Amino acid sequence: MNLNENANITTAAIIREASQYIAGGVVSLNRKVVPGIVFAYGKGSKIYDVEGNEYIDYHAAFAPHLLGHNNARVNESIIKTIKSNRSLFGSGTNELETRLAKLLCDAVPSLELVQITNTGSEATAHAIRLSRAFTGRDHIVLMLGGYNGWHNEVSRAVMPSPEQVGPRVSPGEYPFIPLSAGIPESTRSLIHIVNFNDLPSLEYVLNRYPVACVLTEPVLQNIGVVLPENGYLQGIVDLCEKYGAICVFDEVKTGFRTRLDGYQGVAGVKPHLSVFGLIDKNADFSGFRMDPERPG
Ligand SMILES: Cc1ncc(COP(=O)(O)O)c(C=O)c1O
Repeated sequence: MNLNENANITTAAIIREASQYIAGGVVSLNRKVVPGIVFAYGKGSKIYDVEGNEYIDYHAAFAPHLLGHNNARVNESIIKTIKSNRSLFGSGTNELETRLAKLLCDAVPSLELVQITNTGSEATAHAIRLSRAFTGRDHIVLMLGGYNGWHNEVSRAVMPSPEQVGPRVSPGEYPFIPLSAGIPESTRSLIHIVNFNDLPSLEYVLNRYPVACVLTEPVLQNIGVVLPENGYLQGIVDLCEKYGAICVFDEVKTGFRTRLDGYQGVAGVKPHLSVFGLIDKNADFSGFRMDPERPG
């Protein structure tokens, strides 16, 4: 079967045209690859380039396609919703967002309230702002080797070279190595980077700075897969409660995959805030748990 509807359009021609109109030649530079490739469509675990080549998609667009490409049930639901003249309304809530929020709260026991965003980065930005508003503090702790989105506060190099990082520091912190130019010093000075699986370093920072939140993936999944050691995730929650900071789990990659209730369900740990995302068709959200004995 010839799966190539665009057989007369070569990969090189599309890339050449894209580079005339799109900064960097591709929307989101994370998708830039050499040699260039142009995919046309996907179904299930397979994707097809404009030359008609078939690939198994182990990448899954950095994770969202957990149900495969163009899952029939998801597509049918979306088409049904569009055909019923649903829209995004500028005022008030609606039935669908309420139903989604309830499903999410039912699935993840730590969630009491949710807010829905378009991307994981927006969700982590909201989580940081909420933590700052709640605690009245400005400093933030992130993990070396973690990724939490593209905005200034989290935009440190994910895989810096050993020369950039320097020798292992514990207990202690690493310098903020920016992912790109344009991140002001006033932002960098509020961010503290520590080793994953290193509670003494976390306590070192919590003890020295007024920390609003500790934001971490429960499993580092952007540098390969780094699992938390036994007791580490609960240790983060406990230290946050001791020092009055908010513990935020970034489950953008782990959520709904290992288990419906996320990696927090696997570990049996309840963070104060959770961020989920990279879900097929873009339903990203942050979830809130506001305990009576909340920190701060
Ligand atoms: C753990 C984690 N957090 C946040 C994000 C940011 O999500 P988005 O690309 O939807 O902004 C990502 C994206 O890969 C991620 O892996």
